[in-house]
Amino acid sequence: MLSEVERRLWRYLAQYPDKYFTVRDLASVLGVAPSTVTKYVSRLRELGIPLESTRAGYRYSVAQDDLAVAQQYLRNLPTRLRYLVHYLPETTSTQDIAHTLAREGAPEGTVVLAEVQTRGRGRRGRCWYSPRGGLWFTLILRPSVPPQYLTLLTIATAVAVAEAVHDLTGLVPELKWPNDVLVEERKVCGILTEAALELDTLHYVLLGVGINVNNELLPDLRSQATSLHEVLGHHVPRTALLTLVLYHLDRLYTQVLERRSEVVTESWRRYSSTLGSEVLVYLPEEKVLRGVAEDIDELGRLVLRLSTGETMHLSVGEVVHVRSVTRKT
Ligand code: BTN
Repeated sequence: MLSEVERRLWRYLAQYPDKYFTVRDLASVLGVAPSTVTKYVSRLRELGIPLESTRAGYRYSVAQDDLAVAQQYLRNLPTRLRYLVHYLPETTSTQDIAHTLAREGAPEGTVVLAEVQTRGRGRRGRCWYSPRGGLWFTLILRPSVPPQYLTLLTIATAVAVAEAVHDLTGLVPELKWPNDVLVEERKVCGILTEAALELDTLHYVLLGVGINVNNELLPDLRSQATSLHEVLGHHVPRTALLTLVLYHLDRLYTQVLERRSEVVTESWRRYSSTLGSEVLVYLPEEKVLRGVAEDIDELGRLVLRLSTGETMHLSVGEVVHVRSVTRKT
């Protein structure tokens, strides 16, 4: 999404939040003509990166990162989905609000975005701590695919988050099947997929995304979780991150609808930290499987090879990596 020069400009400004640079300074850092700097700054602003210009020059203005105006950036995105944001300063869980809106007929592309969640939900009935500074949202989709595609939609969302984080920060996240995004081996993002379905028809799907961006983390979770701010040492603009996640997700979602799942699974494999590892998979009803994570299939299911040599294709489960093993190819 970002060109090489735009990326370099943004990464340079990001290292010095709130500090002004003249056009001349920036042109010399980038090795481009001063007349082109303004063009790159405008592009970054269109994505929601809060770059302020005054007579002193340009700066990355941390205080201007405002999720309340996210809609204005999404309006200009070249996407198939038309995103419509419901911004809430505080709510119980964006999933709850999204369920209500979806039942009332909200169109796909509706995004429920909250500054703070008081009862954020994680997978397996866990709480999801959601204080100020993070990115907590739920996207409503109405895909014309059978319910077996739900895991693939989760996988597509994880890839979209990884690509957005990579675009904006230069970090290369790792994906743990099916729904965790890790940076430096700690979780920065979780995805909660919920759906309303009847027999073989999906009425709607809710993709709930929680990204630790500039927020505090619970002390108990610090060994397993981190935030982008903690890893990079500077504030990260949430509006731009949201814009980029939704841009990438739109592209991947189109591939799912067109039944080109290999585009999604191939991108997921590139970021995977799960494949080739010996894993424990915790299934519903307290069942646990142990095996080697060999691959994911065309529906995003985990292909697990058990010690008996038998393989299983799993669509749900919580994976714990035991150790890396050499992959047989
Ligand atoms: C997980 O357990 O890893 C999934 C966490 C999902 C959290 C997000 S935050 C936005 C949305 N609203 C919620 O209550 N949960 C999801």
